[in-house]
Amino acid sequence: MTERYLVTSALPYANGAIHFGHIVGAYLPADIFVRYQRMVGSDVLFICGTDEHGVPITINAEKAGLTPQAFVDRNHELIKGIFEKIRISFDHFSRTTRKVHYDVSQEFFTVLLKQGFIAEGSEPQFYCPNDKRFLADRYVEGECPNCGASGARGDECPKCGSWLDPKTLKNPRCKLCGATPEARETVQWYLHLEKFQFELEQWIASKNERWKPNVLRFVRGLLAEGLHERSISRDLAWGVPIPLPNAEGKVLYVWFDAPIGYVSATKEWFASNGQPERWKDYWFETATNKPKLIHFIGKDNIPFHAIVFPAMLMGMKHAGIPYVLPENVPANEFFNLEGRKFNKSEGWDIDLEAFFARYSVDSLRYALAALSPETADSEFTWKGFQARNNSELADVVGNLASRVVSFCHAHFDGKVPAFGDPGAFGKQLLDERDKAPRLIGSWIQRFELRNALQEWLHLARLTNKYLEETQPWTKRKTDALASGTSLHVALRALRTLAITGAPFVPDGMQRLWFMLGQRGPVEKQPWDDAIVQIQPGTRLGPADVLFPKIDDAVIDEEIRLLHVRAAAKTSEVAARTQPGAPASARPRPAPDSTRHEHEEGARKPMESEQNPAVAAATAPPVSPAFAPIKEQIDYELFSKLDLRVGRILEAEVVPKSKNLLRLKVDIGIETRQVLAGISQCYAPASLIGRQVVVLANLQPRKLMGLESQGMVLAGHLGDAAVILVPEKEATVGGIVK
Ligand code: MF3
Ligand code: ZN
Repeated sequence: MTERYLVTSALPYANGAIHFGHIVGAYLPADIFVRYQRMVGSDVLFICGTDEHGVPITINAEKAGLTPQAFVDRNHELIKGIFEKIRISFDHFSRTTRKVHYDVSQEFFTVLLKQGFIAEGSEPQFYCPNDKRFLADRYVEGECPNCGASGARGDECPKCGSWLDPKTLKNPRCKLCGATPEARETVQWYLHLEKFQFELEQWIASKNERWKPNVLRFVRGLLAEGLHERSISRDLAWGVPIPLPNAEGKVLYVWFDAPIGYVSATKEWFASNGQPERWKDYWFETATNKPKLIHFIGKDNIPFHAIVFPAMLMGMKHAGIPYVLPENVPANEFFNLEGRKFNKSEGWDIDLEAFFARYSVDSLRYALAALSPETADSEFTWKGFQARNNSELADVVGNLASRVVSFCHAHFDGKVPAFGDPGAFGKQLLDERDKAPRLIGSWIQRFELRNALQEWLHLARLTNKYLEETQPWTKRKTDALASGTSLHVALRALRTLAITGAPFVPDGMQRLWFMLGQRGPVEKQPWDDAIVQIQPGTRLGPADVLFPKIDDAVIDEEIRLLHVRAAAKTSEVAARTQPGAPASARPRPAPDSTRHEHEEGARKPMESEQNPAVAAATAPPVSPAFAPIKEQIDYELFSKLDLRVGRILEAEVVPKSKNLLRLKVDIGIETRQVLAGISQCYAPASLIGRQVVVLANLQPRKLMGLESQGMVLAGHLGDAAVILVPEKEATVGGIVK
């Protein structure tokens, strides 16, 4: 029986660009899963779209000087473009500002209200008498009741990270005009989750074993705490209006309408294909129709996909509308960049445009899948990326393919050689090859992409080993049949690799497919045909470089640039906090750092909350803007400076020091130990190998018991590094004049 799947990826907020962390969490794994399902012949639909409501969007639109609609229009296109680049193969990518979405969301609300799962209530809320509006969530600021910091927002304190009730803020102010808001009773609507407690528990109990342990643990924890009602309305002008006569100025809370986006997008997709009823095949479970709903998300979205949205679907079922519940919610953990969170406003990110100008989509897809935070947080490092590309994709797979195919062109008339006796090793290899598609497939089916890739790589490694052992290159003259047989066996394995690798690295595998003389799109091959034999005499395509290697220098430059950009951002922040800078120029989290804000549920402090520079920026400035210029020195004194190009050989933090790094620097004539006060700007490892300029004739002096023999021309401005470096690689020991 063909399985029917509806696969969704979390709808990204239309609040800025997305980064690798998002891609590895919810999009790439879903895409690989879907590509695989298509190849095994499942009936699969892959749905996503942008999540375009919520307070952070209205605030950021205002900051950008745009209407919320213009703001989300722009971001929708931006995000869609990124997904196309990475070859995320959605069947449909919609938006939550479409009419169909408003209709479906309002229908959910109306049905759940009628069933008594949503009920009206009232509570005091801040109201700005000046702006004549209620101030939802982040529209109120004040002092944190827990830590006393100013700049706490209606729903959270950026300083201590605590979760706030706006009414507890001290000295609350309207974020729009600064006036003191007053508390006014206002009507809200509440989703009574506690009514689903038992049903949810039963449902989760049935998911034992099949769900990822990290997800189950999380959900069980939430259920154990006990569920209670949650407000699902907001006093805002941006969002899906509450469809009731007494609800002027009220919209659905973004987390209520967003997951309904999966439903509305499906509906929209089929309507646009002239099949307005078919969406039900993917959403309604009946005696004869059992679709499997799979939500790919990052772990911060677990409560909404494993508790709140399922409860809403259960509520619809109670009304006789037979919505299916999620079959699985394979949530990934968090993904960092070189040991820190991705954060655009801190310059700690990777420019995707620049990335794709330099590297292939395959290299990214492969590295991200191989490093995927399936069971624990993981990180992208530039060196790790290079290693995956060079020593796995390029060396193990790409090189194997081009060696074998080139050799057939040179010595076997460009055709698949005849097949003789493969020998014991050859038999073992062919045996493993026959098993590989099943194994790889079952890992993908269990959302364990890292293991799937390991299995794939294992087949390629084994093939390399087999060629080393059978040596077709040297045997050609003495035993052409044996030589040809080895190549033939390798070509069979390569054919299997092309099909089973296609969900991961689609471009490279298509090129490999053509190299093997096969026709058509490899992604259209049935998965089970991965073990179909390759016919002797088949004409091979031209040999091709499947995966170009990435040079050390290129990667070193990426690492350097990352640090330079981060340092520049921090100094920008520091500069903006000088007195005299208008308050509006003070740093606020950039749009993209707020796009991961979650207004409730299990959230981590926002990225910018953890940035000491940003925190410092909101504290009152203590130093004057510009220090007076120091006493003049004459040229003679300056000309005494002996400046030489050095290369950092070693770097480590001096224990217990505030900011000292102990560096070993090669300055040509000798190696020096230099202490530099820059540890808050650089991770020691990132400095190793870099060229710097050294003041070589400074008197040695002792710092923390260590002798500093000279000075690296580097310093810092707050958290920002200022460092003098040769424009391009220079001769170590060269004198800077
Ligand atoms: N926009 C949310 C985020 O980026 C995810 C919403 S998923 C949905 O974290 F199901 F609600 F749509
Ligand atoms: Zn106001």
